Amino acid sequence: MGIVSIPGRARGRDDASVFSLPLLPPVIRRLLAAALLCAGVATTRPASAQPAAAPADTRLVLNADLGRDTISRHVYGQFAEHLGRDIYDGVWTKAKGTPWHLRDDVIQALRKLKVPNVRWPGGCFADYYHWRDGVGPAARRPKMVNTIWGNVVEDNSFGTHEYMELVRRLGTEPWIVGNVGTGAPREMAEWWEYVNHPGGSSITDQRAANGHPGPYNVRRWGVGNESWGCGGAMRPEYYADQYKRFAEFLRPFNDSTHAFRIATGPNVDNYTWTDVLMRDAGRMIDGLDMHYYTLVGSWEHKGSATQFGEREWFTAMQRALHIEELVTRHAAVMDKYDPAKRVALIVGEWGMWHDVEPGTNPGFLYQQNTLRDALVASATLDVFNRHADRVRGANIAQMVNVLQAMVLTRGPQMILTPTYHVFEMYTVHHDAVALPLTVQDAGRYEFNGQSVPAVSASASRDRRGVVHVTMSNLDPTRARTGVVELRGVNVTGATGRVLTAPAINSYNTFEQPNVVRPVAFDGARVADGRLTVVLPPRSIVVLELR
Ligand code: AHR
Repeated sequence: MGIVSIPGRARGRDDASVFSLPLLPPVIRRLLAAALLCAGVATTRPASAQPAAAPADTRLVLNADLGRDTISRHVYGQFAEHLGRDIYDGVWTKAKGTPWHLRDDVIQALRKLKVPNVRWPGGCFADYYHWRDGVGPAARRPKMVNTIWGNVVEDNSFGTHEYMELVRRLGTEPWIVGNVGTGAPREMAEWWEYVNHPGGSSITDQRAANGHPGPYNVRRWGVGNESWGCGGAMRPEYYADQYKRFAEFLRPFNDSTHAFRIATGPNVDNYTWTDVLMRDAGRMIDGLDMHYYTLVGSWEHKGSATQFGEREWFTAMQRALHIEELVTRHAAVMDKYDPAKRVALIVGEWGMWHDVEPGTNPGFLYQQNTLRDALVASATLDVFNRHADRVRGANIAQMVNVLQAMVLTRGPQMILTPTYHVFEMYTVHHDAVALPLTVQDAGRYEFNGQSVPAVSASASRDRRGVVHVTMSNLDPTRARTGVVELRGVNVTGATGRVLTAPAINSYNTFEQPNVVRPVAFDGARVADGRLTVVLPPRSIVVLELR
């Protein structure tokens, strides 16, 4: 089978303008436009409205004493699906003659990212997965055909216990996605009991017989995946009813097992989905799982991960930045029903989706990862940081060997991707207080009569009181000087690291694994209450202010 086609998925849009949103009342449109401009989101004013020679300097103001919301570490989450070589060969291997086991090299690398949670077993696979197939003696587990991803035989050697062992070794939290599409409330409720009940029932006796007498205490629980598409092609009204039916039976057994129930959220800009879910089921939802992928081409011809020019670079930046409009507008819909922001907006799948590497199984979604992917990641993570009040979870797709992965493997070899380095650099923001970093003038990166803000940025203060700033220069050819006015903080200097590379499509290979990696940065100076940062073209900088 070829790559799964996902009906009804909206494509990335060229136009990120809020000025063209006829369905919103004018006053809301104006407020939204002001908010997006303040945050530095792309707007598509005609090229003629831009200053003839846009200033290269980017001017920002950091109000270091006005932080309010914590950036949840969960926006740095990972996603591992039974898809291609994410699980098998990725985290789970059987080297010649050995039984299946977890890969130490991959685990050691991922531990450096302080991964907050791993979403599993899918994705589309989740609505096809029956958890009982993956417990008990491996030799007796049924083999199934993974008809969603590549028609390969799945031997179920990686199941609940193996996943929980991966979670333990990574020092992370589990996020299990239950099966709504081909499952039943009873099946989901029994999985919940299997992993969470303290013991004494027949189901937990089975857990003990399978090697784990005590409960695993899994809190994050997805009720289906993409139920508008591969999870069952449902209407929002129908899914809202199904959601309540399934979620009702995820009952707490004690204080440590209150479920954090995550509903299938909107596909890209389906605001009706958000509205209906929040209206009909909002009181039972803890997280709403929106999905948005950055594609440079169409779903049929996405384009090469490594062979591209500036046109594809610019389009990637433009479409990645579109996520700010999406989270802003979905959050506005959620505010209608949940002004206290109890329900988290979780971007449970995001990242760049390219054509697969030539010669690889089209159903495995194996793609290389260049400096362009890294810039898309940093700009997206800055958006999440700036929307910390509502965006309290996100999972890049996916963790190993699939889509915009952290790590690629070949036999016993492993390389770190440019995106891995971004996630490592951004660990400074985990659970830190988001600081307002207002872009007064981002400068524009122009291409072919269109433009996006040249610089993306976010800032936070960690538990020790240390302020970190991340800044990315999306312009592939021109250095930018960012001047940050520092308010509410006494700073004498800044140190940091920079990630860049010789070309827009530079990437790491098994032969040359360190083409793209962070190095020490000496382009930041502090004087007279101002931080001046000279950002090389196509670069990402993380700074610690002292
Ligand atoms: O990440 C690949 C697939 O994309 C997931 O399985 C699905 O949820 C989405 O459509």
